Amino acid sequence: MTAPGPLLAAENVGFGYGREQRVLTDVSLTVAPGASVGLVGESGAGKTTLLRLLLGLAVPTEGRIVFDGAALNVRDRRAMRRFRRAVQPVYQDPFSSLDPRMPVGRSIAEPLRSLGIDVDPRARVAELLEAVGLSADAAERYPAEFSGGQRQRIAIARALAPRPALLLADEPVSALDTSVRMHVIELLQRLAHEQGIGFLLVSHDLTIVSALCEQMAVLEAGRIVEQGPTASVLTSPAHPYTAQLLASVPRLPAP
Ligand SMILES: Nc1ncnc2c1ncn2[C@@H]1O[C@H](COP(=O)(O)OP(=O)(O)OP(=O)(O)O)[C@@H](O)[C@H]1O
Ligand SMILES: [Mg+2]
Repeated sequence: MTAPGPLLAAENVGFGYGREQRVLTDVSLTVAPGASVGLVGESGAGKTTLLRLLLGLAVPTEGRIVFDGAALNVRDRRAMRRFRRAVQPVYQDPFSSLDPRMPVGRSIAEPLRSLGIDVDPRARVAELLEAVGLSADAAERYPAEFSGGQRQRIAIARALAPRPALLLADEPVSALDTSVRMHVIELLQRLAHEQGIGFLLVSHDLTIVSALCEQMAVLEAGRIVEQGPTASVLTSPAHPYTAQLLASVPRLPAP
């Protein structure tokens, strides 16, 4: 992406499930190319909903999602294919996000097929497995043969298959054992550095966000109450809700 400005943005977005329940109100959030943005907030604040809108899986009732300078139009199939090459999701639960009946290599190659990307899938899968720290013979095996952390690496390999510019990750380590969480976080960090991939990381864990994200935004009851460089948000929270969130974290690395 050579265009200056944000790669992906929510502009004054509002959303509700049905007419009654309003979940997001006037949300604006931008992700510049290569940026690492953390999105935090309590359970039910609307983090997953915002991610779904940013992925084009739901459509805002107010405002718009802008990708690479143009409003995202989920009915424009060509534009959406370009969008899906550039913006890939990583989900919370690697157990349900991988098809148990498919060898891992086929799962990883699946986006290449569905997005019509013309590369040798075998070579690309081997390269992707290596990038996420798994051996090439993993391609022939099935998800059940891997640990949770390894499955999340496989899911990340699949997300990387189309060479995206941005990963949108919804609580990517919260389903994993504490002991492997940091390894997966370090993997994301390394990929961001080595390949210049940006990411938006949804988490309720401020420790993870402070380790991984240069920018952060705080969502409270569907509104962004704070956003900016992570270091300044965490050291001098401007909003009482953020201060409260911070106070509830047992220990944070010293700023
Ligand atoms: N499919 C749905 N239909 C109706 N309401 C929904 C649906 N999905 C979410 N909601 C509601 O929208 C609000 C925001 O939910 P959302 O899943 O976006 O929160 P979240 O910040 O991701 O929470 P968590 O940290 O628990 O994952 C909640 O009140 C939730 O009950
Ligand atoms: Mg959620």
